[in-house]
Amino acid sequence: MAKQRLDKIMAATGRWSRREAGELARRGQVLVDGVAVHDASAKADPEASEITVNGEPLHYQAFTWVMLNKPAGYLSATEDGRGATVLDLLPKELQRRNLFPVGRLDKDTEGLLLLTNEGVLAHMLLSPRRHIDKVYYTRVAGCLTPEDCAAFAEGMSLGDGLRCQPAGLEILRAGTESEARVTLREGKFHQVKRMLAARGKPVLYLERVQMAELDLDRTLSRGGFRFLTAKEVEHLRKLV
Ligand code: URA
Repeated sequence: MAKQRLDKIMAATGRWSRREAGELARRGQVLVDGVAVHDASAKADPEASEITVNGEPLHYQAFTWVMLNKPAGYLSATEDGRGATVLDLLPKELQRRNLFPVGRLDKDTEGLLLLTNEGVLAHMLLSPRRHIDKVYYTRVAGCLTPEDCAAFAEGMSLGDGLRCQPAGLEILRAGTESEARVTLREGKFHQVKRMLAARGKPVLYLERVQMAELDLDRTLSRGGFRFLTAKEVEHLRKLV
């Protein structure tokens, strides 16, 4: 692949900012094929050369994967004239990487949202044929019952014509307001809300807590993000 600046290569891993990369290089801690490179604006081919930082090999990531803890009030879009999008929650440097959300959460839905610039893998994860589980925590008005769980498990047909695949509904607490964990293998528009509304239990609150077996990182504040680790990205590749 084409040569790139060392600070850019290092920043793409998400471990260092470009400024930190420059500092590490100045201190002689960045080696390319065993030779210290003191200027991080020097170029290298991350696939052809061995780059080490503090003695550890650098794992070059051609694509960026981010886990965002989405707060309510943001649209899952890359741009929208009508309001703030999830990209507004990321620093400027990341906004320049052409990231897009992997699937959508409603404006008022919170929780796990992946963003990436790796189109092929993202589209595979979203393909209905791949059966990638998405798990939600929800609070609804009304008392959830075993009959609701059975209806979810069977695959509901909604009055508006939507035919849903079998889905999971696990009741966490039943009462005048109930809490549950919903597992979907597809992602139709407002699906959780529509399925629960069809059972007469409108959603009061919705949070995605897991997608593609990746749990929402609870160390992230609402609106906070982190890069996926190389192991997590590898896991996504193995799933599809
Ligand atoms: N289902 C919904 O109804 N809304 C979401 O944001 C996600 C799934």
